[in-house]
Amino acid sequence: METAEIRRRWLSFFESKGHTVVPSAPLLYDDPNLLFVNAGMVPFKPYFLGQETPPFNRATSVQKCVRTQDIEEVGKTSRHGTFFQMNGNFSFGDYFKAGAIEFAWELLTTSQGRGGYGLDPDKIWVTVYEDDDEAADLWVQQTSVTRDRIVRRGSADNYWSMGVPGPGGPCSEIYVDRGPEYGPEGGPAVDEDRFMEIWNLVFMQHELSAVRSKTDFDILGGLPHKNIDTGMGLERIASILQGVDNMYEIDEVYPVLDRAAELAGKRYGASGGQNAHDSHPDDIRLRVVADHVRSGLMLIGDGVTPGNEGRGYVLRRMLRRAVRSMRLLGYDDPCLPELLPVSLERMSRSYPELRRDWSRISQVAYAEEDAFRRTLAAGTTILDTAVARAKSSGQSTLKGSDAFALHDTYGFPIDLTLEMASEQGLTVDEAGFRELMAAQRDRAKADAKVKKQGHTDTHLYRELADALGAPVDFTGYTDVAGSGRVAGMLVGGQSASGAREGDEIEVVLDSTPFYAEAGGQLADRGLIRVGGGLVEVDDVQKPITGLVVHKGRVVSGEIGVGQEAEASIDVDRRRSVSRSHTATHVLHQALRDALSSTATQAGSLNSPGRLRFDFSWSKPVPPSVFAQIEEHINQVLIDDLPVGAQVMDKKSALESGALAMFGEKYGQEVRVVSIGEWSKELCGGTHAQHAGQLGIVKLLGESSIGSGVRRVEALVGLDAYQHLTNESLIVSQLADALKARPDELAGRVESLVTRLRDAEREIAAIKAAQVLAGAAALADSARQVGGTRLVTADAGEVGGDDLRRLVLDVRSRLGEAGPAVVAVTGVAKGRPSIVVATNGSARDAGVRAGDLVKAAAGVLGGGGGGKPDLAQGGGTDAVRIPDALNEIETRLGALTGAAG
Ligand code: ALA
Repeated sequence: METAEIRRRWLSFFESKGHTVVPSAPLLYDDPNLLFVNAGMVPFKPYFLGQETPPFNRATSVQKCVRTQDIEEVGKTSRHGTFFQMNGNFSFGDYFKAGAIEFAWELLTTSQGRGGYGLDPDKIWVTVYEDDDEAADLWVQQTSVTRDRIVRRGSADNYWSMGVPGPGGPCSEIYVDRGPEYGPEGGPAVDEDRFMEIWNLVFMQHELSAVRSKTDFDILGGLPHKNIDTGMGLERIASILQGVDNMYEIDEVYPVLDRAAELAGKRYGASGGQNAHDSHPDDIRLRVVADHVRSGLMLIGDGVTPGNEGRGYVLRRMLRRAVRSMRLLGYDDPCLPELLPVSLERMSRSYPELRRDWSRISQVAYAEEDAFRRTLAAGTTILDTAVARAKSSGQSTLKGSDAFALHDTYGFPIDLTLEMASEQGLTVDEAGFRELMAAQRDRAKADAKVKKQGHTDTHLYRELADALGAPVDFTGYTDVAGSGRVAGMLVGGQSASGAREGDEIEVVLDSTPFYAEAGGQLADRGLIRVGGGLVEVDDVQKPITGLVVHKGRVVSGEIGVGQEAEASIDVDRRRSVSRSHTATHVLHQALRDALSSTATQAGSLNSPGRLRFDFSWSKPVPPSVFAQIEEHINQVLIDDLPVGAQVMDKKSALESGALAMFGEKYGQEVRVVSIGEWSKELCGGTHAQHAGQLGIVKLLGESSIGSGVRRVEALVGLDAYQHLTNESLIVSQLADALKARPDELAGRVESLVTRLRDAEREIAAIKAAQVLAGAAALADSARQVGGTRLVTADAGEVGGDDLRRLVLDVRSRLGEAGPAVVAVTGVAKGRPSIVVATNGSARDAGVRAGDLVKAAAGVLGGGGGGKPDLAQGGGTDAVRIPDALNEIETRLGALTGAAG
């Protein structure tokens, strides 16, 4: 049975049992505790915790999930995949254990002909929590599972939580016996490869305040209702229903593996054992490729872009690991263009939006592979240098610190270092490498500990939210001031009931006009007056859904929880930020109009008078197109299109053509901001009322910020106006100075530069000619020093080539009728230099120009040298030029005297 069919049957089975079918939420989810959605229940968390009222009592979904804590296990066991889909059925205070068990049994054991999964009831085992007699009895009463196939296990296996504060409860897991070829008898406690877990029924009834490990957690209390949360690994049930060994061999994954093997010229399973456990390294690599390519596709599809931290880093690591695995398999060419389309073909059967978004997805992925290939090339150079160094010092081992530096700084993976070093006949000090890695891990752990304290904070926020009882009422779409009640506060990061002048506080009101930073829009600032106290607010955040926290300090008086508060925002700042936000929407639409609909938003920042907008696009935008975009934007402002917001259900919003950004939370209701009929986006931000209020938008430029993402910065309103005024002031100053009209400036400056360059050339030529013009007189000034004709002179402001040319000219005038020496000094940029030339007869007599220059330059406080016929030197002390020339004469006298 195809995976898509298993998925379809799941949803239709639970729909027929009164469950509302809820589409998968995106992998990116607005939850401070989660990197990615990692379970089917995540989008329903507020319902389980009683923070929001569910619009249904029963729901079912097939949720996209990513778990990365087991990334090193990928390919080695049959159970770990980074991306997977979780089939789930959920009850919010409706049915409990009996209902969950009944539904599970019916779907699993109903024959395939009648719409079920058709598993053999005798092959099914279950586990229950150690003291959960109720669940064990229900399995016996409602199904044909016998007591010997019901295993009791402790909290390590049978208590489920999210690993972070939130809902949890005991669970009952369903296993399928895959037969003796997979392992020994004895049930799930003995062998989890043979007895494969396919479905987890969580009897969710607790709220946990802290989770230190699977067995060590604090139960804060009972949930408002008893709920059901179940999760079936779609890939696992698919591997069973398709009769394949593991999740990498199912129809949604295997085609990529197969294509990878073909590219690398490998045969999958050629030398492996029976199952994933004792696989050949090549088989493991092929599975890694298949898994990571699919995860990469799904993550980019949901808006993640490769980067160096957080989610972006996870994606980068997976894409690079896929590329590297292909390399280790012997395939060196770009592989994603070969593999990603194969994954698309499979995954788009369940996720057709991947096809619509393909051009963006593929651009991002291919750009990342290109970047990695460049890193590899750079790392290879570094590695070659290290190898050469090791070899030249007679070592046959590459230092651990070299391998570590390559890994740490260049992202050069150790297995690649090993492989490439061995190609050059070297081993690598792996132990040294691992030591350094371990030290780095310890540092990272220490870091993580610090971050964990972030969870404690979240917990304090949770308490504030609980004290509040309902989500904060945001009045700021319409109001800039309003009253509310102080529902709670933190002083210096600790819960408190009051605060005094000077205290740094975080305060929560039940109703507020303050906009909390979100969706790229900066927070409001302003004042909160509480009784006699006044709080200056400089930041506003939403640390958990439904909670708005005002951060700032008490500037006078005292305030206390429970008091009435008057909040008022800084209106000018808000208006300015709102204009930037509207400008961002205008820019986004104008970019899409000019480039294509694949130029989608990848991030933005709306601050007073200024905006930054990142979008997916891999080439520079030509200046002429950029100018058109700017003009289009300003035309929209002139047309003064009305800006409006409307709350509607998400389906109608998408049907109306509204752009949905990634990370959009699944929900019944969304807010659509439109600019005329021209731009429509899902957006929770604040905006101008008419495009005309923006005044002017000036784009400042456009540049790449890495793998397939570009950034535009722009000024809005008065800031744009001031920028233009400044530029125009500069232009009039220039026009004044150059006595030209503004439109002539460019031509004028260009011609000035050309004339200046010509004049400089001319001056140089005149100077050279002048210098040479003195050559005849210098030659005539030759005097006899011990049988040698000597010319010494100081040419003044002459240097370099001119000085040399002069000396050579004088020497040739002196001819070869007897020995001759020419020594001339000059000064350039305050520094003296000297050039000495000898003719053939002088050299025959033992006079060497180099020796004379050395002596003279010494006098000048410097050095120099050269060949016997021509030498040059210099110094620092121009006043000693006469002494230097005297030194030449003295030396020559000594030399020729000795010779004569
Ligand atoms: N939330 C439960 C799990 O992830 C079903 O296993």
